[in-house]
Amino acid sequence: MKLFLAALAAALAATAHGAALPQNAQPNALPTSDEPDLSNFHVRKGPQVTDASGAPLKSGLTLELGSQAKAKCMYDMDTFVESNLNYGSDGGLYAEMIRNRAFQSPADGVFGVGANDSIGSGSLTAWQPVGDSKLDLVADNPLSDALPQSAKITCGTQKNELCGIKNLGFFGLPVHAGETYNASFYIRADKPGKMRLKFGLFSNDLTQAWAQNDAFVEIGSGWTPVHQVLTPREGASDINNVFAIQTNADAGSFQVNLVSLFPTPYPGTVARNDVAQKMLKFKPKAIRWPGGNDLVGHTIASRFQWNNTIGPLIDRPGRLGNWAGWNTDGLGVVEMYNFIQKMNARLIVGLWAGVDANNNSVLLKDLDPYVEQQIEFAHFLLDTEGKWADLRVKSGGPQKPYDVQAFMIGNEGGLTPAVDYQTRFDMITNRLKKEFAGHAGFDEIDLIASAAICVPTGYKYRVDLLNQPIYGTPADFVQKYHMYDEASRSNQTVFYSMEFAVINSGMEADDNIWFGPGRLHHSIMQGSLAESIFILGMENNCDIVRGAAYAPELSNESDDRASQSTPGMLEFDTTKVVGSTSWLMQSLVSANRISESLPIKNSKQLEDAKIYTSAGLDEHGAVVIKIVNYSEKRVPFNIDAGVPVGYPVCWEVAGQGPLDSNTLEKQLVKTEGCTAKASGTYLTVELSKWSFTVIKAERGRVA
Ligand SMILES: *[C@@H]1O[C@H](CO)[C@@H](O)[C@H](O)[C@H]1NC(C)=O
Ligand SMILES: *[C@@H]1O[C@H](CO)[C@@H](O)[C@H](O)[C@H]1NC(C)=O
Ligand SMILES: *[C@@H]1O[C@H](CO)[C@@H](O)[C@H](O)[C@H]1NC(C)=O
Ligand SMILES: *[C@@H]1O[C@H](CO)[C@@H](O)[C@H](O)[C@H]1NC(C)=O
Ligand SMILES: *[C@@H]1O[C@H](CO)[C@@H](O)[C@H](O)[C@H]1NC(C)=O
Ligand SMILES: *[C@@H]1O[C@H](CO)[C@@H](O)[C@H](O)[C@H]1NC(C)=O
Ligand SMILES: *[C@@H]1O[C@H](CO)[C@@H](O)[C@H](O)[C@H]1NC(C)=O
Repeated sequence: MKLFLAALAAALAATAHGAALPQNAQPNALPTSDEPDLSNFHVRKGPQVTDASGAPLKSGLTLELGSQAKAKCMYDMDTFVESNLNYGSDGGLYAEMIRNRAFQSPADGVFGVGANDSIGSGSLTAWQPVGDSKLDLVADNPLSDALPQSAKITCGTQKNELCGIKNLGFFGLPVHAGETYNASFYIRADKPGKMRLKFGLFSNDLTQAWAQNDAFVEIGSGWTPVHQVLTPREGASDINNVFAIQTNADAGSFQVNLVSLFPTPYPGTVARNDVAQKMLKFKPKAIRWPGGNDLVGHTIASRFQWNNTIGPLIDRPGRLGNWAGWNTDGLGVVEMYNFIQKMNARLIVGLWAGVDANNNSVLLKDLDPYVEQQIEFAHFLLDTEGKWADLRVKSGGPQKPYDVQAFMIGNEGGLTPAVDYQTRFDMITNRLKKEFAGHAGFDEIDLIASAAICVPTGYKYRVDLLNQPIYGTPADFVQKYHMYDEASRSNQTVFYSMEFAVINSGMEADDNIWFGPGRLHHSIMQGSLAESIFILGMENNCDIVRGAAYAPELSNESDDRASQSTPGMLEFDTTKVVGSTSWLMQSLVSANRISESLPIKNSKQLEDAKIYTSAGLDEHGAVVIKIVNYSEKRVPFNIDAGVPVGYPVCWEVAGQGPLDSNTLEKQLVKTEGCTAKASGTYLTVELSKWSFTVIKAERGRVA
């Protein structure tokens, strides 16, 4: 009853200003009895509409919404952690601060070294000797089968000098006062006995100790584990620091391996805290991992193998990074999926289809054992009991199975037609279906193809088509607003777009969007808005589009545009992480999900004015309207919701212009509140130029 009076009062207030609502604004019968019934309320007709302040609206644009839901939505904002790319995992999300901690990484700049050996040729990358110590990479006395090489330090003869080894970190080492750093390593001495061990965080020249442990420790000729929590009382003013392990110069020679330094990670995970917090703010509904080239590998030997990424770190061989350096796989299946579940996101799991990123493939006739490895992976994730479930729990995973939304077969399956992606997809999915027939929940898991495929009609299982990865210019993305409008509603296909980004400004005459001068280093407003237009188009087709994921989510800030993929959704360096303009917009989409879509009656007219929208109802029945203003032409803007609306809230992402970016140095663009007013069935809002706006209002509840 209270609601009814409020509604009536507002409607009266509107008419009191001499307002009259257009004919089609007659309130429709409202869905539930809790909501006011205004069907008999007489609305005076007249020539003018006012906004809520009573000012007459100029003849301008009106977004006209249908009042009846068009479809139920499955669309969610996802994200894609392409691990090795841009130091996304080692050196990024994985909180480990020591680079090349087990001497596996190929030498800097020598891309593809060790391509054929799954354990890596190794190097002393990121390590330096202390004083006149001699440093060697050796295979003597292997620490484990997985970590066979180590550093051997042979002390010089200089009296009163220290002897040892120091690590420069990935890109320097930050030291914060009061932070706890968990240091650990394995050490063995050629001359067993009490050895002075002075280790910790120091300035690069070792003159300043930020936090150290200095004591005599019994070290044997076998490997001795050492660990110590270090808490600096004073922080360093820059990142020009090292982690060093030192001893007296008369120590002879010793070896170290698996040297690790962990700051306090995001609680209960091994994720870097600030990076994890930003990922959490985005609230992705599903995360694709492993995926892309990181899944398929630079070579067949260095493909992602789930069972090499579980268990003690000492048993994880890691693999050659597809893009750079080495994957320690310390951020393994259990660590990553536990983290994803902490974010309340579901899993989109990549399964290897026998093809690497460089056109090497396992012949179809030899594929079976590789398929079995994927089946075992699925058991590890999905089983409720038995040996795989036991292994999951023993490895630190949950008692209950992981929440898998989809398996995605291979990566970019269409790029090497010669390998017959369709047959690979069929082999793996048929095997999965056979193995998991009758497994509760399996039928709800989507099977995503990474290239166009054909399936017979009447096929029992849902087949999901991944569109080819979508990268392009802003103009390319604006065109994708209607990409799904004509897609079949009857053939069981749902769509995922698990890789997209505007990567080129489109302002240069580039014939190659990847390597031309227009390649973007950071997201720009115009690019992020164009991506948002694509996303709004997917929301308008949310009955068949299930998810989309910007790629890559994480990017170590880099000026090298060609070798790694820019821009990133979150850009980070050693000490900070910043959300790009794309991150701001997609976070808003994610936080304002719709569960039913509403028809937009005059889309064409709006597009002519460079306005792109999506509309729907959230799970509580509130109307959610998303708007991109892709111009700076001045046009007043209204929304006719078709039913009375009230209590509007509004957020916008707007900068000063289309080229604005957020970078590590400067964050020009923020999400800010904006003003929307409600009057009768109308909402009014001032759209800033080049802006993304989200308005949410109650339906049938006006104030
Ligand atoms: C890897 O093996 C292939 C085939 O055996 C060979 O052609 C190639 O040169 C090897 N690459 C390296 C880096 O050893
Ligand atoms: C520190 O590292 C050691 C060795 O890796 C581990 O056993 C211990 O649990 C860690 N402690 C903390 C507080 O993280
Ligand atoms: C990939 O290999 C196939 C043969 O297996 C060949 O036809 C094709 O040209 C190769 N593509 C590239 C990009 O090397
Ligand atoms: C991983 O699984 C495959 C079989 O699927 C097996 O050949 C391999 O030895 C396993 N690796 C480890 C480290 O257990
Ligand atoms: C279903 O329809 C879509 C678009 O209309 C098409 O791309 C896809 O190939 C079809 N799927 C199947 C399995 O035929
Ligand atoms: C990563 O960022 C650091 C600066 O923090 C920079 O020195 C380094 O070149 C970057 N590397 C890559 C590959 O982006
Ligand atoms: C788009 O932004 C410009 C600049 O603020 C504004 O003048 C124009 O009215 C907006 N477009 C619409 C349709 O609101």
